[in-house]
Amino acid sequence: MSQRTLVLLKPDAVRRGLVGEIIGRIERKAGWSVAAMELRTLDRATLEQHYAEHEGRPFYEPLMEFMASGPSVVMVVEGERVIEGIRALAGPTDPIAAAPGSVRGDFGTIVRENLIHASDSEESAEREMKIFFPAFS
Ligand code: TYD
Ligand code: MG
Repeated sequence: MSQRTLVLLKPDAVRRGLVGEIIGRIERKAGWSVAAMELRTLDRATLEQHYAEHEGRPFYEPLMEFMASGPSVVMVVEGERVIEGIRALAGPTDPIAAAPGSVRGDFGTIVRENLIHASDSEESAEREMKIFFPAFS
């Protein structure tokens, strides 16, 4: 079942020089490939759409500030069961709870600065790809 998903390598991943490492892990998964990719500093309007489900939560404003603090790598990745697969490759939201071997488990300590976003369902993937790549279909 080939799928497409929206992946962000967050400003901490770019600042820390981990982009190649993370893309390398994605590329080495059998049959997965990068379908679209751009280095982009995300603006408030885009981030409000992307994180609409979290509006009003205590971490929302610091999250928005962090996500706008520098460029991110914005990507569409496609391949076999890639939605579930990239969530597994990323690890759980809290990097301390994330197992070593996952991106968050290997490189993160702070929940907010957890390096990578990946869509959590087919519906989220469709919604998020439209936000970041409106011309892409
Ligand atoms: P969430 O959608 O719950 O996590 P995920 O990225 O794993 O889908 O939250 C979105 C982002 O918000 C998360 O990656 C980091 C940040 N965040 C916090 O800073 N503090 C928190 O307590 C939570 C739950 C998330
Ligand atoms: Mg989420």
